[in-house]
Amino acid sequence: MNWEKLTFSYTKTNTIILSHYKNGEWGPLESRRDDNISISALSASLHYGIQAFEGLKAYRGKDEKIRLFRPYENAKRLRRSADYLGIASPDQDMFVEACKRVVLENIEFLPPYEYRASMYIRPFVIGVGAQIDLVSPNEVLFIVAAIPIGSFTGSINRPAKVLLAQDHDRAAPMGTGSYKLGGNYAAAIVAGVNAKKEGYSSVLYLDSSKREYIDEFSSSNFFAIKGNSYITPDSESVLPSITNNSLMQLAKDDGMSIERRRIKLEELETFEEVGACGTAIVILPVSRIDDKLNNKSYMIGDPVTTGKMCLFLYKKLTGIQFGEEKDIHNWCLAVEK
Ligand code: PLP
Ligand code: COI
Repeated sequence: MNWEKLTFSYTKTNTIILSHYKNGEWGPLESRRDDNISISALSASLHYGIQAFEGLKAYRGKDEKIRLFRPYENAKRLRRSADYLGIASPDQDMFVEACKRVVLENIEFLPPYEYRASMYIRPFVIGVGAQIDLVSPNEVLFIVAAIPIGSFTGSINRPAKVLLAQDHDRAAPMGTGSYKLGGNYAAAIVAGVNAKKEGYSSVLYLDSSKREYIDEFSSSNFFAIKGNSYITPDSESVLPSITNNSLMQLAKDDGMSIERRRIKLEELETFEEVGACGTAIVILPVSRIDDKLNNKSYMIGDPVTTGKMCLFLYKKLTGIQFGEEKDIHNWCLAVEK
């Protein structure tokens, strides 16, 4: 592997892990060398978007230990998404066992510590079995893949500009925004690709009922720093991010106050730092948000130097993930043979 050239793109690894839910029970976890699967062309995942996914990472630490970051939280969130769709999902132990196994079976794809890259783990459930009617399928595949990855977009050292969504929303009010379902991403992919062509790192969404309050980015949560406060949106439509939850705890540990509340768009002008956070993106500092509809740009902090809290939180979080910092909250789970 050319570790230096890793990006957020797919590399075929040794195996995927798969289990089939049928007749009311999960089959054993199987390792498959082939990442092509055979399912009915009439599967509800293909027609009605009956699928949910997760994303977490495995890290090779400074001490050579392999760590998963808060995998039980991903297991719970996958169940929450699957419950929304009315389909079966693995229990937490099965989920974590599959994640550990996919790491071990693909261990040579786990980047060495010094590259500060990681292995992205993608667990998902899809509704399978032939059907045409609108009911939750009672046959499901649970699959976990592991892919070595580098940076998703941008870098902690380079404040980015983002675009405010102008002509579409990603999630309806009281819709699926807080669930990790493919449809949310389908709604935002073209806008994201177009924004990138214009030099933007991401798209920021407002609440879709009034377009007054900040929700989140297409694939990450929003947070801001003002004085001694870490501020993040309280919204029914954003994904409950495990990274954001961890950053809130780290900010609290550092004596900051946490404000989880509605954030008006105009409040952007008052923030000292803004960041996008998530598993793939980690923390992306944001120094400019363009609202093209209103011909307005919000400038936050220094355009070339990352703000000190973004940097501090990034170092703390990744320090725990790479075994450099004490894991006082017991977030990491060791993966051992
Ligand atoms: N929001 C959205 C829409 C996402 O896709 C993600 C990525 O998973 C996040 C937030 C961040 O969530 P997490 O920190 O659990 O990865
Ligand atoms: C993640 O951060 O894990 C995500 O799911 C982002 C992904 C959709 C690219």
